[in-house]
Amino acid sequence: MGILSLISGWPGPSGFGSASTAEQVSDSIDASDLTVIITGGASGIGLETTRVLAMRGAHVIIAARNTKAANEAKQIILENNKNAKIDVLELDLSSLKSVKAFADNFKAHNLPLNILINNAGVMFCPYQLSQDGIEMQFATNHLGHFHLTNLLLDKMKETVAATGKEGRIVNLSSVAHLYTYEEGMRFDKINDKDSYSDKKAYGQSKLANLLHANELARRLKEEGANITVNSVHPGLIMTDLMRHSYRSIRIFKVFTFLLWKNVPQGAATSCYVALHPNLKGVSGKYFVDCNEYPASNFATDPELAKKLWDYSHNLVNSLQLS
Ligand SMILES: NC(=O)c1ccc[n+]([C@@H]2O[C@H](COP(=O)([O-])OP(=O)(O)OC[C@H]3O[C@@H](n4cnc5c(N)ncnc54)[C@H](OP(=O)(O)O)[C@@H]3O)[C@@H](O)[C@H]2O)c1
Repeated sequence: MGILSLISGWPGPSGFGSASTAEQVSDSIDASDLTVIITGGASGIGLETTRVLAMRGAHVIIAARNTKAANEAKQIILENNKNAKIDVLELDLSSLKSVKAFADNFKAHNLPLNILINNAGVMFCPYQLSQDGIEMQFATNHLGHFHLTNLLLDKMKETVAATGKEGRIVNLSSVAHLYTYEEGMRFDKINDKDSYSDKKAYGQSKLANLLHANELARRLKEEGANITVNSVHPGLIMTDLMRHSYRSIRIFKVFTFLLWKNVPQGAATSCYVALHPNLKGVSGKYFVDCNEYPASNFATDPELAKKLWDYSHNLVNSLQLS
């Protein structure tokens, strides 16, 4: 899959390509025995993913910081699919306390958990710190999802044991993982304001999404857990993600319009990786346009993945104590 297939929409080895939509890649898949959590599932790619997963019968829990907007999104889906099983629970990924409260709240509902889609994200924010005092893009895009995933893993393993069905975790990364700081991950300068670049910090956080998925995939394989973990780049899609750089991205789009997708196409790779039987047992891979794709050297460095895991684990522990 390269630029030509992106522009032409030609299908790759999976039978799908950049022009495939979330409905097409999940056509005739019955997800009625699956429960899914999707972060940021109330807008953009996440909303379309929620809609299509619900259309396939899945029970979808939208994890959202703005529960009013998420409930409105739920109502819009219900207008066209009155059988959609959708619930909304509050989650602010930029606060570890909120992540813990969300996980506790979800577990109190005694639901199974088959699929976790770590979809929420922020992009190109001006320098700011999260409620826990961590640079916002790293905190929201990576650290919150790292903590959330760890808190939900037991529930996913319990579900696998009870149902015999493979669990799946999908991390929304980005082609932007290629455009990070020179050293890949800046562990010793995560909060450094003077050298902060909104673009590189986003790239770093998306690299972290990939490294997190790869290291978790390795650990789960080692344990023999029947849970796969993969990363996706959804494509370039005009959504609210662009809110901090709307004007410059509109101009960029004029010159690159052939490379852009619409939202139904943008949700295709998430739905494919979350649901498709082709990917049974496939773990630790990166997908673009519904096909496996090589990630960067940093992203495929197992030592860097382990280092990020230990760093994130220690950071979460120290922040919880403070
Ligand atoms: N669009 C693209 O071209 C593109 C390209 C590559 C990768 N991606 C990735 O795809 C994913 C989805 O992006 P999108 O384009 O659909 O953007 P979007 O429409 O802005 O959706 C992002 C979602 O994340 C939520 N979110 C942000 N901060 C949060 C927080 N602290 N806690 C909980 N939820 C939070 C947002 O909620 P609010 O509505 O409350 O802000 C929103 O629902 C992101 O991870 C992004 O990095 C997108």
